[in-house]
Amino acid sequence: MPIAFEQVSHIYSDGTPFRYQALYDIDLNLKEGKITAVIGQTGSGKSTLVQHLNALLLPSSGTVYVLDRKIEAGTRPKGLKSLRKDVGLVFQFPEYQLFEETVLKDVSFGPKNFGVSEEDAAKKSLEVLKLVGIDPSYAERSPLELSGGQKRRVAIAGILAMDPSVLVLDEPTAGLDPQGTIEMMKLFKRLNQEMHKTILIVTHDMEQVYNYCDEVVVMEHGKVKLQQGVDEFFSHPEQCIELHILPPDIIRMKTMLREKGFKIGDEIRDVQALAKCIARQVKHG
Ligand SMILES: Nc1ncnc2c1ncn2[C@@H]1O[C@H](COP(=O)(O)OP(=O)(O)O)[C@@H](O)[C@H]1O
Ligand SMILES: [Mg+2]
Repeated sequence: MPIAFEQVSHIYSDGTPFRYQALYDIDLNLKEGKITAVIGQTGSGKSTLVQHLNALLLPSSGTVYVLDRKIEAGTRPKGLKSLRKDVGLVFQFPEYQLFEETVLKDVSFGPKNFGVSEEDAAKKSLEVLKLVGIDPSYAERSPLELSGGQKRRVAIAGILAMDPSVLVLDEPTAGLDPQGTIEMMKLFKRLNQEMHKTILIVTHDMEQVYNYCDEVVVMEHGKVKLQQGVDEFFSHPEQCIELHILPPDIIRMKTMLREKGFKIGDEIRDVQALAKCIARQVKHG
C-alpha cells in the first residue's frame, strides 16, 4: 500500500491576516519498506509535509493516501485513532512531551490508550525500552532523572510501543552527540530491516542521508524540488551545489581524488575502503 500525496497544498491560518501557504501542489509517492530522508532548508515545509501523514495537519486541498486510508481536503478523516497508531510521528525534541511519573508509565501510555491491558502494555513497554537501548532497570525511574539522549529514546519507545508500521521522525538526532546520533540511526536502520517499518526522517545531516537512507526528497519553498535514490542523488556533485547541499565528506573526497586522476569506484562508501583503493593505486604507480 503506497503512501502518496496528490496535489496537496497546506495553508496555515487561512482566512486570517496570518494566512501562510506552506505547501504548494505536492505530488509525491513514498516507497513502503524504505527509509526516506526529507531534506531542505529551514522553513521549506518539511515538518508541515510529514505532519499530514497521520492527519495531524489536514490538506487545504488535495489528497493524502497512507496505508489504506485516504485523507481528503474538506472532509473529516475517518479512523483517526487507528491511523495515529499505525503512523507513529515523533516530533522534534520529543523528550519535552514526557509527562508521566515513571518511564514505564510513559511508554505504556499509548498502548493503554488503545485498549491494551495494563499487563500487556507493561510487557510491550519493557520490550521496546530494550529495543531503544534503555535498560529495564530504568522502568520505575522518573523520566526527569534521565540524560537528554535517554529521554529521547524513551519518547521514541513510547511511539514504538504502539507498533506503528510507518514511523515518521522529525529531526530525531538534533542536539544529540555524535555517538548518540550513530546509535539512533542504527536503531532506525534495524527497525527498517528487521521489523520492516517504513521510515521517513526529516534531517539536515547528509552523512545520515548517505549512510542510512534509501531515498531522498528535497523540499524547497513549499514544493518538492526533487526525489531520487540516495546513490543517484550523491553521484551528481553539480546538482548538490545547485541545491545548496554539502555532500558527505567521503563523497567530496572521492570527487577530488577523481579530479586528480585516481580511479575510484562507486562501490567505495567508507574511509577504509577509500584508503585501500588509493594505496593500491599509489603502489602500482
Ligand atoms: N503553525 C503555523 N502557523 C503559521 N505558519 C507556520 C506554522 N508552522 C509553520 N509555519 C510556516 O510554514 C513554513 C514551513 O514551516 P515548516 O514546515 O516548519 O518548515 P521546516 O520544517 O522545513 O523548517 C515556514 O515559513 C513556517 O514559518
Ligand atoms: Mg521542521
